[in-house]
Amino acid sequence: MLTTRSTNLKAKSTFRCLHLKRCVITRLSTRVDHILAFIRDGIGVSDRLSEPQDLSDMAKFRFKMPPICFIVARSSAHNVIGCEGKLPWKLRSDLRRFRSLTIKHAVIMGRKTFDSIGQPLPNRFNVVVSRSRLLSETEIDLHGTDTKILHTKSTEDALFCSDIFTILNEAGKIFVIGGAEIYKRFSPVVDRVYLTEVHTELEGDAYFTEDFPRETWRLVHSEKVVKTPEDEFESSFHILDKKSSSNRLRSFSEIAAKKMTRHPYMRTVNNNDAKLIEGYAFRQSKNAASAQFHFSFPDA
Ligand SMILES: NC(=O)c1ccc[n+]([C@@H]2O[C@H](COP(=O)([O-])OP(=O)(O)OC[C@H]3O[C@@H](n4cnc5c(N)ncnc54)[C@H](OP(=O)(O)O)[C@@H]3O)[C@@H](O)[C@H]2O)c1
Repeated sequence: MLTTRSTNLKAKSTFRCLHLKRCVITRLSTRVDHILAFIRDGIGVSDRLSEPQDLSDMAKFRFKMPPICFIVARSSAHNVIGCEGKLPWKLRSDLRRFRSLTIKHAVIMGRKTFDSIGQPLPNRFNVVVSRSRLLSETEIDLHGTDTKILHTKSTEDALFCSDIFTILNEAGKIFVIGGAEIYKRFSPVVDRVYLTEVHTELEGDAYFTEDFPRETWRLVHSEKVVKTPEDEFESSFHILDKKSSSNRLRSFSEIAAKKMTRHPYMRTVNNNDAKLIEGYAFRQSKNAASAQFHFSFPDA
């Protein structure tokens, strides 16, 4: 009898010990998850300060972000894309294609490209990256519901906001529209490239030198563009897909943490949007059948 009781006591204390260990491991893995997220996505330290403390398993769940596409026109000789802050050619047919592909999407650009365009692209979520110049928060939505402009201080913030915009608007993909510096910065995470090759040899000062080795890239479309009287040069248009997708992931807790930083764009996102994010995560989840998400933002 005594032996049975002491065995029971031992079993209970072993169970408690195991339970405690499991709790500690869960908390530690939550932290590790966030540290990994921080390293992988390069979100700034300040973004993490107001991270919610009560992190459930659901909050840790990481789901796939929309694919990133480059859209770029370069000269077939020397890979020139720009000269003295401008496009070095007039190609009406290419501009028309650019518009139809990017309309209603997030378009990420460097400040110099924004300056060269001179105004936000209509019916798009214009995300302009600049270390030096920022619009005030109220200027996010100056241009009506369909034309938005957002200045961000970092490419990481630009991508974060574009991810959320793309999820909420079911836009499907994000466009990086240049220039040279910005293409370089996003090169590790690009999934698809819409490439116009302009058949000309001219001088320039901005280049897109990315090459597309067959081991890494698949050519999914190629056409010779019929030159119209409004096109200065002959051109070809290609679509290339990266064979292994960049597979960018974010967690609910990361999104909630960003909201808590009162980031200008995230301030416009509310709990109805949280439901849309939840639905998106559900669709992206490989185990969608078993996934149960109930995401809402903590009170700011
Ligand atoms: N042919 C095409 O398809 C195509 C497409 C786009 C552009 N272009 C051409 O390309 C040229 C512009 O290219 P570019 O390389 O000179 O300039 P860019 O990439 O358009 O912009 C560079 C600027 O972006 C900001 N920036 C870059 N990296 C950043 C970072 N990590 N964090 C925060 N801000 C960052 C900085 O702005 P601040 O200086 O304000 O800090 C930097 O000066 C123009 O001639 C344009 O016409 C051609």
